[in-house]
Amino acid sequence: MVTLGVGLSACAGVQSALDPAGHEAREVATLFWVMLIGAAVVWTAVIGVAVYASRFKSGPYDDAVGHRVILWGGVAFPTVVLAGLLVYGLGLMPKLREPGEGLRIDVSGEQFWWRVTYRPKDGAAVASANEIRIPVGERVEFALTSPDVIHAFWIPALGGKVDMIPGRVNRLVLKAEKPGVYRGACTEFCGASHALMAFDVRVMEKPAFEAWLKAQSAPPPSAKGQDLFTRHGCGACHQVSGTDAKGEVGPELTRFGDRLTVGAGLLPNTPKNVARFIRETDTLKPRSKMPAYSALSNEDALEIANWLGSLK
Ligand code: CUA
Repeated sequence: MVTLGVGLSACAGVQSALDPAGHEAREVATLFWVMLIGAAVVWTAVIGVAVYASRFKSGPYDDAVGHRVILWGGVAFPTVVLAGLLVYGLGLMPKLREPGEGLRIDVSGEQFWWRVTYRPKDGAAVASANEIRIPVGERVEFALTSPDVIHAFWIPALGGKVDMIPGRVNRLVLKAEKPGVYRGACTEFCGASHALMAFDVRVMEKPAFEAWLKAQSAPPPSAKGQDLFTRHGCGACHQVSGTDAKGEVGPELTRFGDRLTVGAGLLPNTPKNVARFIRETDTLKPRSKMPAYSALSNEDALEIANWLGSLK
């Protein structure tokens, strides 16, 4: 009963392949149900034949009837059903391979976060991290890779999942059909914090998305937190465009205040959590490349967190 409950609770929500919000995910969900029904029909037929056969364990055995049952129930019937499912499944493949419509998003899986670069058809590239925004109703092309180990990119409600392999770029095209916030995750074991490598996907109306993309190039407000950020060398790894922070090692933070989570889907993005993340990275996210700034006072960490939170 508990297993059934847990199983069913996975059928709805922001991270379920059975609650599709995109074209590709819908095709895959339909395929799942068709396959499940097909498998149930074959299973029922085969068990039926087995039960029928068990009646003859103490004979008399009618050869002609037995052969007919085996031929039709055990061979012909599964062959026809399975061939039908195969043809249906293969027929789906071209539908999942349609080209994108202009916007390309490069996503690189890195231990243990996501480097995101928007490449609109016209306009400059925009760097971001750990959150992906896409316009609704448009086929967006993702170019997926990795600089370290193999990760995998999956947004169950929208589609995927595709491996991110060092030295290779894998393509994926997704079309979201419903605005909302969905959750994606790394689905290839990639090290100590694999389970802590998630991201939010925000599907927006197209005008709002375009306005958001355009706003990404405005310079950020300065504050005491920015001084601390600079003084403690955060800019060696992180980038905040419009400031001296030009690091490439860690997640880009230019519009950090816009993001829903901190630490690649780890905690809700509140100043308190960000300050905590800065000071306790080693325990919150084992083996991440960011050292824990435990020497920083809680007040200073909060100042930095407040400044990062103001970057919208
Ligand atoms: Cu990245 Cu698992």
